[in-house]
Amino acid sequence: MRLNLKIWRQTGPNAAGRMEDYVADHVSPDMSFLEMLDVVNEGLVKKGEESIAFDSDCREGICGMCSLVVNGVPHGPDRGTTVCQLHMRRFKDGDTITVEPWRAKAFPVVKDLVVDRSSFDRIIAAGGYVSVNCGGAPDGNAIPIAKEMSDLAMDAAACIGCGACVAACKNASAHLFMSAKISHLALLPQGQIERGARVVAMINQADADGFGSCSNEGECEAVCPKEIPISNIARMTREYVKSVLTRR
Ligand code: SF4
Ligand code: FES
Repeated sequence: MRLNLKIWRQTGPNAAGRMEDYVADHVSPDMSFLEMLDVVNEGLVKKGEESIAFDSDCREGICGMCSLVVNGVPHGPDRGTTVCQLHMRRFKDGDTITVEPWRAKAFPVVKDLVVDRSSFDRIIAAGGYVSVNCGGAPDGNAIPIAKEMSDLAMDAAACIGCGACVAACKNASAHLFMSAKISHLALLPQGQIERGARVVAMINQADADGFGSCSNEGECEAVCPKEIPISNIARMTREYVKSVLTRR
């Protein structure tokens, strides 16, 4: 396939960015989207031009590093899929594809398609942990947990912290990300110690980092590669109200 690419280039956080045109030739339908970009970059390097900066690590949908808005959709057109697992067979010969970084005040562009997501780390540091005694690993069956609760907690724990939910939201809200972490911990016995303080601390940190609030439109759920449901946001809101009403 031969594809026309319009890719966001920005030399640094304070530089002005712009879309630039590239042609990707000899693209195999079996390539992943990132492998296609690797080939474009090899061509740029051979010509002595600056390669396009983009993030990736595992390339198998588990680390959350890849972060491209493809044709206006975070992680591209396939539901429940990270952009590293998007394949070029999804496109047709001659297609024009736009590629942009996540766009949110709390995710400033570092270079080209790379954004700084350390605001997510600050939210986790504010409350996304549990108090446990160090020592040997406890027996797996020592704490009984109802199957329904463990299933819900595991589903919420599937969040890989990619930030697509923020990029898709017109408010740049981190609610889906935070609600996944808060639900995962609030549903398990191990998460009870900080349960009330956690939700308030994490939401306060998100406000401080410039994330917006939630207006219940569901774009976050639609683009989430782990299909985290927005019912977690309802749980987070209940946790928050309960905490501010009962804590001094
Ligand atoms: S909730 Fe989904 S989209 Fe948001 S950070 Fe987690 S995995 Fe990514
Ligand atoms: S590179 Fe790890 S999820 Fe895409």
